[in-house]
Amino acid sequence: MTGAISPDPADDFALVPTAERDDLALSDAFTPLAPIITEEIRAGGGRITFERFMALALGHPEHGYYSRRDLRWGRDGDYETSPEVHPIFGYLWARQVLECWERLGRPTPFALVEPGAGSGAFATSILTWLRERAPDCFAAVRPVLLDGHPHRLDAQRAALRAGGFEAEHTLVEDWLSRDAPVTGIAISNEFFDALPAHLVERRGNDLLEWYAAAGEDGALGFELGPASTPALAAHFERLGVLPGEGCRAEVSLVASEVMRRLSARLERGYILTVDYGHEARELYASWRREGTLMAFRHHSPQPDPLASPGRLDLTYHVDFTSLAAAAEGWQRAATVSQAEALTALGLPEALQAAAERAAADAARFASERRAAQTLVDPAGLGRIRVLALAKATPLEGLRCLQPLTARAGTS
Ligand SMILES: C[S@@+](CC[C@H](N)C(=O)[O-])C[C@H]1O[C@@H](n2cnc3c(N)ncnc32)[C@H](O)[C@@H]1O
Repeated sequence: MTGAISPDPADDFALVPTAERDDLALSDAFTPLAPIITEEIRAGGGRITFERFMALALGHPEHGYYSRRDLRWGRDGDYETSPEVHPIFGYLWARQVLECWERLGRPTPFALVEPGAGSGAFATSILTWLRERAPDCFAAVRPVLLDGHPHRLDAQRAALRAGGFEAEHTLVEDWLSRDAPVTGIAISNEFFDALPAHLVERRGNDLLEWYAAAGEDGALGFELGPASTPALAAHFERLGVLPGEGCRAEVSLVASEVMRRLSARLERGYILTVDYGHEARELYASWRREGTLMAFRHHSPQPDPLASPGRLDLTYHVDFTSLAAAAEGWQRAATVSQAEALTALGLPEALQAAAERAAADAARFASERRAAQTLVDPAGLGRIRVLALAKATPLEGLRCLQPLTARAGTS
């Protein structure tokens, strides 16, 4: 599948196949989820939590946004994630995977777990780099792609096979339910920000919750009520912060639970979480009046997250403080931005090597340079952050965290 490989080890752009990867885009059929949700709301006494709405809108087994057979990724879809921008994203993270394997003493087998693997593009590019640049590590790697939705698992299997790779493809829930301890790395990109979240609002001393309710005509609208579970107040008590007066905020109890179980399955290794997010103090700061919930369609933010359920992508910024705390017994580092991490992982050198062969194919170099800019754009993908966790292995000095080491050294 791969085109001519450059002998220069820094020239990762050269690993991209010369022929375009087959597009996984499928047809854009209508999915009638709205009446199903309205029915559940009526049966449940007139409203459901936003968390339940989000679980259905994204994950209803037949009509949920991520369950659909016809989900489009990248430029043709509703938003573009970093692995869809260019395989260089995965090639750079593969260097981190290699370093983690070495720090762990080069174990065989070495699990490479990717929760929420999307189109399979991220895993494919990581494995491509390892096969070409680090064959010992590639021989030890046991890729495990996890997702919540059978059509996604099928698409991921097809994408990996097209790249010549075999992996385990399993539902997140099934993998997390197993007992066998694992040594390796779990790396995810924009996974946790897709997990259902409650929508809360602080009014004085009360923590209220926003629900999805149905009008007489079946139209969905927001309704404010008491918190559906004491776990929401407990979340803020644990953090020692509260949203500002009158501020909306998202709380994903599911995300913390998934991190708790993921970290419990890995007995030794690293968890790298790449996501839009903040530490709790910043996420719940009083200036953030509307929270961070966003709905997207065709790259445009949509005003009403309750509209067209199953047709809009819903996302919010994750709470890194709670995610890290959920990984009991794991060390954490301060987060770094994607721009910082990719720079530390060798993006400038890869770009420099690409520039040196620009004369041979100027158009290719122009697209590689554009991709690099997109991935580190401080107003876009570059502001995604990386949370690194380690257990029974050193975290300090990890390559993607080197901006922290440099900052510590200069202060
Ligand atoms: C925003 S996409 C990111 C995909 C990919 N990591 C990327 O960066 O292109 C979120 C991924 O998580 C999966 N996902 C969403 N909700 C999930 C859930 N509740 N349980 C398991 N997987 C879920 C989706 O199917 C999708 O693969």
